Amino acid sequence: DIISRLSLVVKDCPDFPRKGILFKDIMPIFKDPDLVKDTCQTLVDKISEIEKPDVIVGIEARGFLIGPIMAQQLNAKFVPIRKKGKLPRECYSVKYEKEYGFDEFDMQIDALEENDKVVIVDDLLATGGTLEAAKMLCDKSGAKVIAHSVIFELEFLNGRDKLKDTPVISLVRYN
Ligand code: PRP
Repeated sequence: DIISRLSLVVKDCPDFPRKGILFKDIMPIFKDPDLVKDTCQTLVDKISEIEKPDVIVGIEARGFLIGPIMAQQLNAKFVPIRKKGKLPRECYSVKYEKEYGFDEFDMQIDALEENDKVVIVDDLLATGGTLEAAKMLCDKSGAKVIAHSVIFELEFLNGRDKLKDTPVISLVRYN
């Protein structure tokens, strides 16, 4: 099944990018076109069980690899959230803390419309700081975040607790 196919190709990288962090290298997924397609379709099917979104918001960097594919499969728009200073024109910004440090995100103020139904997409949920910050940006636009969607979840870091009432879809969970 999809969970074992994903588990087989992901590579554990101890002490990357810092000592004590066990990094999951997900790039081998993208050497298998069928696995890419099936992963995105499985996530899209789970999203569709909740509600059809108007917009997929993808998070730099690895949310950009699957987000646009999922948006196509859903016939939805795609909007990027980028690291500070990478997007032109006026942006909403938010500072956040993730598993291994601090960062800042931008999203263009005209990217979302009020009441847009949004699903936020990334590769992996760790502490939840990243998805929490992404939701704050969507909230500033007046959009409604209906779910978070990731391929991998590090359950032992309890990232879901930060995301409160918003449903979290994940395929492979490590505990
Ligand atoms: C990783 C991952 C998530 C985030 C999860 O990205 O792709 O975006 O960490 O961590 P959290 O749940 O603890 O917030 P990273 O920050 O390494 O950025 P990158 O995708 O630009 O490499």
